[in-house]
Amino acid sequence: MRSLISILDLSVEEIDQLVATGLDIIENPEKYAHKCEGKKLATLFFEPSTRTRLSFEAAMYELGGHVIGFSDAGSSSASKGESVADTVRVVSNYADIIAMRHPKEGAPLVASMKSTVPIINAGDGGHNHPTQTLADLLTIKREKGTFDNLTVGFCGDLKFGRTVHSLIDALTRYTGVKIVLISPDELKLPSYMKNALDKMDSISYVETTSLEDAMPSLDILYMTRVQKERFFNEADYIRLKDSYILTPEKLESAKSDMCILHPLPRVNEISVAVDDDPRACYFKQVFNGKIIRMALIMKLLGIN
Ligand code: NCD
Repeated sequence: MRSLISILDLSVEEIDQLVATGLDIIENPEKYAHKCEGKKLATLFFEPSTRTRLSFEAAMYELGGHVIGFSDAGSSSASKGESVADTVRVVSNYADIIAMRHPKEGAPLVASMKSTVPIINAGDGGHNHPTQTLADLLTIKREKGTFDNLTVGFCGDLKFGRTVHSLIDALTRYTGVKIVLISPDELKLPSYMKNALDKMDSISYVETTSLEDAMPSLDILYMTRVQKERFFNEADYIRLKDSYILTPEKLESAKSDMCILHPLPRVNEISVAVDDDPRACYFKQVFNGKIIRMALIMKLLGIN
């Protein structure tokens, strides 16, 4: 029984295979319409979500399966004091696979140790978000054709942004990737991640506070929201929330085929005036996220 807790749980070959399945689903959706008939997905969301939960649910429906679950810890037995471990032991009796989001780092890992069905980490605190990474990778594959030799800029909240952490983990597997970390000093990539990158020859990184300086070199610009819910005080959030705002003017120095990604939700960090730019790929990411979740659900259920 396989779970997906970190993107590093998947080998490069498995990621390639998921991407290939995703591309086939896009070409031949009818082939997949009955693959999960009779199967149930439980979505256990202890933290708010629109995209990720609905994306999992839509993915399961498009595979012909069923969905049960909750979208708010307050409406689950967690509000009565039940542990995550007990909740998944119970839900394992009702569902064939579980997608879980939790505000505590490591909660899906604990769940996977107790569950008798596969657990998918749909975001754990400021830690990891492997299925967003799969959506990002499918988008990069479709837009750029490769994961190698790319210069990827990550801009915004690199401290708490779990999608950033998981995508960087994934990119360490490929060759010639250069990472440009663009953030205010207070929101830099955690040192445990930088220490790990320092030990790798395959990947290099630089840190800067200037989006303008980084822009001309980038093949991909990954914008992120400042993660309000992870701040300890409101004043810090207010001071930092508008650190970077991507506008059409700032894009003038960017490559003509740069790809702009954002896991969404967007707050202020990308001006809506950028949405019509052909380089804006963040709404394509949403579609690709549903597709790659279909591929992942099939894989973890052992369905070809
Ligand atoms: C991200 C998340 O939940 O970490 N959203 C998502 O799943 N697409 C990014 C965010 O909330 O800023």
